[in-house]
Amino acid sequence: MPFNFDFKPKKVPFVQTKFRTIKTKIPSPETVEIFREMDKYNTGSGGVQLPIAWDKAIDFSVYDKAGNKWIDWTSTIFVANAGHANPRIKKAIKDQLDKDLVHSYNYPTEIRNKFLAKLVKMSKPYGDRALLFSGGSEACEAVFAIMKAYGQKKNKDKSGIISFQNAMHGVTMAAQMLKNNKKVLAVYGFKDPNIFHLPFPFNWDEKVNWAKKFNDDISELVKGGMKIKNISGIMLEAYQGWGALFYPMPYIKELIKFAKKNKLLLAVDEIQGGCGRTGKMFVFEHYGLKPDLIALGKGLSSSLPLSAVIGSKELLALAEEFDVAHSTHSGNPLSCAAGLANLEEIESRNLITETARKGKILFDGLNKIKNKYLQLIAHINGKGLLAAVLFKNPKTGGPESKFTSRVCELAMEKGLLLVHTSRESIKIAPPLTISDAALREGLAVFEESIDEVGKSHKF
Ligand SMILES: Cc1ncc(COP(=O)(O)O)c(C=O)c1O
Repeated sequence: MPFNFDFKPKKVPFVQTKFRTIKTKIPSPETVEIFREMDKYNTGSGGVQLPIAWDKAIDFSVYDKAGNKWIDWTSTIFVANAGHANPRIKKAIKDQLDKDLVHSYNYPTEIRNKFLAKLVKMSKPYGDRALLFSGGSEACEAVFAIMKAYGQKKNKDKSGIISFQNAMHGVTMAAQMLKNNKKVLAVYGFKDPNIFHLPFPFNWDEKVNWAKKFNDDISELVKGGMKIKNISGIMLEAYQGWGALFYPMPYIKELIKFAKKNKLLLAVDEIQGGCGRTGKMFVFEHYGLKPDLIALGKGLSSSLPLSAVIGSKELLALAEEFDVAHSTHSGNPLSCAAGLANLEEIESRNLITETARKGKILFDGLNKIKNKYLQLIAHINGKGLLAAVLFKNPKTGGPESKFTSRVCELAMEKGLLLVHTSRESIKIAPPLTISDAALREGLAVFEESIDEVGKSHKF
């Protein structure tokens, strides 16, 4: 059985507010067949998600077939930045559909050019060209190849990349090597010896001298055989995903200094945090970092599959030269129409500034909850409308994933959808369009859920 949660309908209290409706057992009995069918034909990782069969999603609300309605704090998985089924995006997709051009491979199209022009304009001054792909992993794969090609152009041994242990860059081979996913690397039976992994600088201990820690960690890699002269670039996940962990500022400043001194490329994976999610267009703007390459995806269209790599003409030309600049579905006209409308929506509704403002409501609320449940909550991380709440076992002080899953489940039963990570963190990422009132109502439901699970859970 691939499901982490029970999909047997369970009687739960009735809920009816402006933003939430729970009027059946959960999951609703009429959706159970959908889970059974999924179990019959699919072995995907759908099972780790909460047992709700989505029927429709509009703005920041998710509905099932029975008419139950949830406040969405997931944006599916950090995608629906401009809101689910955003009217401007829907219209753009429909208009493109009606033009009878639904696929165009690499042939030039007007819609692709319009989207590219908008994307490059919104990414200035960080790049003047963009490559398009359909998924985040593909974009990271291209970044990986560009970095290596850049180094090797200078010197054939210069193909080293520094990345971070456990960083999420997707599920393709380069992404898994960048992450150092030992499980799958054992299956490949192969590992690029020129990727060097820094431990992620977990910001748990404020007393750590982070600038020194960066240099110490680099020295460790050098001791292990890394030659700095053979490094081409550093690949950073904008923050470490599972816990919304941002790099400590003194650490990142030292990293920037190191990259500059050694003339290394800096590539930032903004697939999860880009396009306004943290209250800035790009997460790296919080760090004062100026990257050479940016990978974007997810919230780039708020809907259809679309990803991009942004950089200079010279760097992106390497992708062309080494044949990693395209794929069958890259720059699909429907996706480009969605992407263009999405960027226009983000801009015209001031969603980035609004996200920074709403982030204050979210974090004020979360910090109040943390102060109330100090024995259960270890950390609140994030920025803008991206947060992670890390739970701990009150007896051992260690990470607590069972309790965390139960909080996600109870919140769902009450009409709030959270990102279940299968570990001690709950991630929070509502569409950037969420209203203040719905955000506040979500906070109240989240608090209630922690409170109720806290009273009954056996640690
Ligand atoms: C930071 C980051 N990079 C890359 C990816 C991979 O993107 P995709 O699933 O579209 O291939 C993800 C997906 O979760 C991500 O969070």
